[in-house]
Amino acid sequence: MPHEKTGLKSKAPRNFGLGEELSGDDGPIGRDYHETPEFVDAHAAETLLRSRRSIRSFTDRPIPEEVVRNCLELALLAPNSSNLQAWEFYWVRQPEKRRALVEACLSQKAARTAAELVVCVARPDLYRRNAKLVREQLEQHQVSSKTMLAYYNKVVPLVYGTGPLSLFGFLKRPLFSLIGCFRPMVRGLYSKKDREMWAVKTSALGCENLMLAFRAHGFDTCPMEGFDEVRVRKILGLPRGARVTMVVSAGERAVGGVYGPQLRLPSELFLFET
Ligand SMILES: Cc1cc2nc3c(=O)[nH]c(=O)nc-3n(C[C@H](O)[C@H](O)[C@H](O)COP(=O)(O)O)c2cc1C
Repeated sequence: MPHEKTGLKSKAPRNFGLGEELSGDDGPIGRDYHETPEFVDAHAAETLLRSRRSIRSFTDRPIPEEVVRNCLELALLAPNSSNLQAWEFYWVRQPEKRRALVEACLSQKAARTAAELVVCVARPDLYRRNAKLVREQLEQHQVSSKTMLAYYNKVVPLVYGTGPLSLFGFLKRPLFSLIGCFRPMVRGLYSKKDREMWAVKTSALGCENLMLAFRAHGFDTCPMEGFDEVRVRKILGLPRGARVTMVVSAGERAVGGVYGPQLRLPSELFLFET
């Protein structure tokens, strides 16, 4: 389709189409698709964000099962890289596993007293499987465009793939750097470690959704990275390619469960306008 301003035919997507994957210009959706955003009360949203605190002590009140399920489903709505959904959430319910998980979380009070524990796992190793599933889903829902399909067929393996022993990643580095001299390029996914970071980013956003969802239901949470990853992996039977991003404990905030006011360093250290 010609470019709306220049009238020129579009070439192969720049940056290997990153960011363009859901805006194909040759299908029934993409730029013609529209969803009217629902009204969100800014005050309520701010209250939700401000009232989320890391809680280290919970009461005995259980969380209704449907609430946990709803929060987990909402976690899956977090934005995620290329919609490849490189995450998993394990709601640990079996008493034996739960006990072991609390211990693996160094028996932190936030884990010990929690009504529920959810382990968030990054799955950098599943990008190919998920690309295939996303592609099939797009086709099933008849919302695929050539651009989208090409993105998942060709761009994803190129950008996210590193090949056996990261050999492809090794070759990509100089190639992408060279191309990057002439035009902006997405760089950085050259090794398994890079892909881990990619998946951890995405899964951490899922954790935030999860915590805010619990808050919206009147419950509270504590994100934890104070755990023994080897033990957590064993409890869940995770494969080598998986990384444990966080354990999120949840329950009703106990009196004394929050250790102090929400302090942050001055915004000037972190917020910039340029
Ligand atoms: C990645 C991550 C790991 C964390 N790990 C722990 C932990 O192991 N134990 C704990 O008590 N709090 C943990 N926290 C909570 C932080 O200490 C807390 O978010 C921070 O002090 C700010 O407090 P607030 O969440 O109440 O605003 C973690 C938070 C994050 C984001």
